[in-house]
Amino acid sequence: MPDPRQGENNCYLQVQDLKKTFMDRKRKVEAIKGISFSVAQGEMVGFLGPNGAGKTTTIKSILGLVRPDSGRITVDGIDCAKNPGEAAKRMSAVLEGARNTYWRLTVWENMQFFAGIHGVSASKERAYFEYLLEVLGLQDKRNAEVRNLSSGYKQKTAVACALVKKTPLVFLDEPTLGLDVEASYELRAALKDLQSQEKRTIVVSSHDMKVIQDVCNRAIIISGGRIVADENIQELLSLFRTRNYRITVSRNGNMRYAESLPEEIYKLFPQADIRETHETIEIVVDFTNPFEIYELIETLRTSGVSIESISQEQVDLEKAFLEIVRREKGICG
Ligand SMILES: Nc1ncnc2c1ncn2[C@@H]1O[C@H](COP(=O)(O)OP(=O)(O)OP(=O)(O)O)[C@@H](O)[C@H]1O
Ligand SMILES: [Mg+2]
Repeated sequence: MPDPRQGENNCYLQVQDLKKTFMDRKRKVEAIKGISFSVAQGEMVGFLGPNGAGKTTTIKSILGLVRPDSGRITVDGIDCAKNPGEAAKRMSAVLEGARNTYWRLTVWENMQFFAGIHGVSASKERAYFEYLLEVLGLQDKRNAEVRNLSSGYKQKTAVACALVKKTPLVFLDEPTLGLDVEASYELRAALKDLQSQEKRTIVVSSHDMKVIQDVCNRAIIISGGRIVADENIQELLSLFRTRNYRITVSRNGNMRYAESLPEEIYKLFPQADIRETHETIEIVVDFTNPFEIYELIETLRTSGVSIESISQEQVDLEKAFLEIVRREKGICG
């Protein structure tokens, strides 16, 4: 049989100009409007986006569960439209809002069943099954029927069933949904462990930025059916980290000069946010270039106040995400 792979490049997953419009009561919903990205083998990529952005539609299109209107998807060089069966062998998923498991079967039976579909035998791969149970904290639940488990354990079972198939590409759509803080933390640790052990290609969608920031190297942000950012997470953060400073000064009893200080600062930095107490003045300012901080320091020095602290505002993925989506909505109306 000829190898269906066309060996186009090193990307394991490639999505080109994907579009999908749904009809909802005779109303057209443009769910995705031309999405393109690629994921290298062994990469762990985060999908971020507000509700209705198009994340699940993109994932379902890749999995062959939604038929896109246009665009091209390849997995391991295999065209998903031309060879859906071959592509499907290489993918597994935990889908948002779906049961993903059989509730009348036990955790172990579910794992056996889903592995079996992909030709993975529980007897031959017993050690791997045990490893997944351990890493996901499911050992004590192996013989429990899924219907009797709490939602967090149900979710972990779904993740175990997706991973046990040993497919090179895995989609986890909202894997921490409904998990308590500890379970979410454990799942994140498990994903990192799996990633470092197995180098599988994993796409994770989540509204929990901590999950993405913690486990992924790269984030693809989708908003309104389009990709609005596709960056290495550290680089994404550095774009927003830049020059936002919080400087607290003590008046030193020097009320006369200190009283005119806010006005002087506003003249130089109209964007500054200044809060005064009887003892201190707190200045939060986003400098437009790296040298402006010297101007502010000089103004503080000549006014005779002493600097108590200077800190640079820490940017996390949540702030970067909100800013990107806010800007994008501003541009697109
Ligand atoms: N089967 C469908 N029929 C009609 N409209 C749909 C269907 N599936 C999705 N949509 C619409 O397509 C858009 C994108 O939905 P999608 O589920 O992909 O978003 P999402 O990014 O996964 O959102 P969430 O964060 O809420 O899970 C939404 O406007 C949604 O209402
Ligand atoms: Mg979704």
